[in-house]
Amino acid sequence: MSTTKPMKRNKLLLLGAWLLMTTVPAQAADAIVPGAEWLDTEGMVINAHGGGILYHEGIYYWYGEAKGDFTYRSPGVGWDCYRTDAGGVSCYSSRDLCHWTYEGIVLDPDTTHTFSDIHPTMVIERPKVIYNERTRQFVMWMHIDNHNYEKAVAGVAVSDRPTGKFRFIESIRPNGQMSRDMTLFKDDDQQAYLVYSSEGNATLHIASLSDDYLHVTPHYTRHFVGQSREAPAMFKRQGKYYIVTSGCTGWDPNEAQWAVADHVMGPYTVMDNPCRGPHADKTFYAQSTFALPVVGTDQYIIMFDRWNKKDLITSRYVWLPVRFDDGALTIPWTDRWTPATLRW
Ligand code: DGJ
Repeated sequence: MSTTKPMKRNKLLLLGAWLLMTTVPAQAADAIVPGAEWLDTEGMVINAHGGGILYHEGIYYWYGEAKGDFTYRSPGVGWDCYRTDAGGVSCYSSRDLCHWTYEGIVLDPDTTHTFSDIHPTMVIERPKVIYNERTRQFVMWMHIDNHNYEKAVAGVAVSDRPTGKFRFIESIRPNGQMSRDMTLFKDDDQQAYLVYSSEGNATLHIASLSDDYLHVTPHYTRHFVGQSREAPAMFKRQGKYYIVTSGCTGWDPNEAQWAVADHVMGPYTVMDNPCRGPHADKTFYAQSTFALPVVGTDQYIIMFDRWNKKDLITSRYVWLPVRFDDGALTIPWTDRWTPATLRW
């Protein structure tokens, strides 16, 4: 859990210094290598799972789940309910999307209040952050759950700075509805939306947020009804709205799907599996988490997690650029690439 992370990190840095003298030094990659171990600028493995990215004043901020060192199965839960203690939300910063500097844990777990929604015994997943121009605050939404994922709520936190600390406000069921896997989407008109798996994960909801982004409004729409889609990643390109989702098979991979709409709240037309290449039917053994527009370009990256359910902290990141052919979206596999050089 994250309370032990600073000490562990120092120990590992000392170990790293010793290794520097004896072996080839670890380095951050100059390229994105999907599925490979990804090191930060200090040579530590990046721990930011189920992540999302905010671009603010020339810098990309990557927020993700800080997984604890120890994976265990939730006691008394019948399904494959592997988890770690919730270590809060980590943050890394970058200007080029390849080299990432660790900014620390920006939302701490609450280790003092046993009944807190962000106590280490709870689940904190898929954090996403957007900036509110009106309030000048950074607003984080995340999936909060209890040890067996039956609570199914959305948590919200706020900070004056992108690197925190974020202050946890509350967890809610949007309009009384369940909320598990989620993302945020902010449109060009500054209106923001919470996109979440609801109704027992059977149906995806899109709910508009209040002007300060801290609340869900009563205005929401239902999508892919009864189709059990989760892991939503959403973006807008040339006036159309795209959502990439996964199926619902716990930590195990399945086939992705994309859908497109003319309006943010839908209706969405379901298309097909966008993945192309080896193991495309299993999303390259990964699951979507976020769609990232590369600023100043027409390039979009879909970020996926390749979960290692029995040792979650070693789960890897699979980031791939989207290709468009006459508006049709595909995600071809590529072994190694950089946003500056690869244009499909
Ligand atoms: C699938 C979700 O997409 C993950 O974020 C996580 O909640 C796992 N289920 C838990 O089994």
